[in-house]
Amino acid sequence: VDITTRYPHVLLAQHLVASGAVTDPAWGRAFAGVDRARYVPSFLAENDTGWTACTDRERIAEDIPLVTQVDAYDRPISSSTAPSLMAAMLDALDVGPNMRILEIGTGTGYNTALLCHRLGDRNVVSVEYDEDVALLAYERLASNGYRPRLHVGDGAHTVHDGPYDRLIATCGFPTVPAAWLRQVRPGGRIVMPLTRGLYNGAIAVLDVSYDDGMVEGGFLPVFGGFMPTRTLGDLPHLPVPDLDSGERRPAKRGLSVLDCHAFAVVAALLVDVVRIPRGGPDGLAWWLHSPDGSWVCLDGGDVIQGGPQRLWDAIETAADAWSPGMDGPTLTVDPDGRHTVAWAGREWEMPGHGRTAH
Ligand SMILES: C[S@@+](CC[C@H](N)C(=O)[O-])C[C@H]1O[C@@H](n2cnc3c(N)ncnc32)[C@H](O)[C@@H]1O
Repeated sequence: VDITTRYPHVLLAQHLVASGAVTDPAWGRAFAGVDRARYVPSFLAENDTGWTACTDRERIAEDIPLVTQVDAYDRPISSSTAPSLMAAMLDALDVGPNMRILEIGTGTGYNTALLCHRLGDRNVVSVEYDEDVALLAYERLASNGYRPRLHVGDGAHTVHDGPYDRLIATCGFPTVPAAWLRQVRPGGRIVMPLTRGLYNGAIAVLDVSYDDGMVEGGFLPVFGGFMPTRTLGDLPHLPVPDLDSGERRPAKRGLSVLDCHAFAVVAALLVDVVRIPRGGPDGLAWWLHSPDGSWVCLDGGDVIQGGPQRLWDAIETAADAWSPGMDGPTLTVDPDGRHTVAWAGREWEMPGHGRTAH
């Protein structure tokens, strides 16, 4: 009897392989060799009274995300990602022997430890925004024998010792940070959550070209929701638009059009909005606000739109052009940081790429 199979994290690794989340045997060995509980000895579970610390070893070894830090308003700001999503991103990173990896968002250090296990700690550099979180990760990694270089700061900025072969981000950014275009070597790869206001579920897999400094790629077929970069700050205070100034018509599609991941990724690249659930007058449900003052209100079966653009028209037109199984969008970022999307024979500049916190 192989006694290691009694350990919850070995069972987790077996589950990830059996479910198909891990396809590369080397990542299977990494998940079996790194005990999540060493990096997440406790997590925060939400109940009626708020968040309470939980040390349930079985749950720590489940394929679920675990919140590890909340802010003063009880909003999660650090967590350990669901292992199957980590596996999908690590797989997409396409690492090879001796590659040097830059990780953005150290968090608990669990993903850092997997990278160290696979590539050696000298090849791993990780950046965490929150100093306390980084220190805890440092201590836990060191007590398990890993000494990767850890930096405290905003991972959107340049980290020395680049360029790297691969960059993996585990916090989301609304665009590809300009510094990353030079942080990754020609022929290298970036795997990152592209956290857009309309949809937080897109994971971009982007290759850096060998000759012209372009970065280009597509998106994972799986949903990957991540905490956005802490540099985004709070949502701006947005006034409730004057509904009478907008145009009302029956909506062809409701917000549920975003339930389909493959389409939601396209829609998120079309519009630059913040999406706000709002009770509002008459129980109006959802608002989309764009920085140019365009707005959408989905009111039961109707859509009301105002401002310079008809944002919901654009989403409905794309939904009409979409069908299951069609190719997903391609995102290209040129050396000047211009983001271009190509999809269904169309090409457009991704809105909002010049308007980010980094
Ligand atoms: C989902 S957690 C990371 C999970 C982590 N990879 C793990 O295995 O535990 C996201 C982390 O990104 C950090 N973060 C947010 N914005 C950041 C930024 N601009 N630069 C670096 N880290 C950032 C957060 O503090 C948080 O710890």
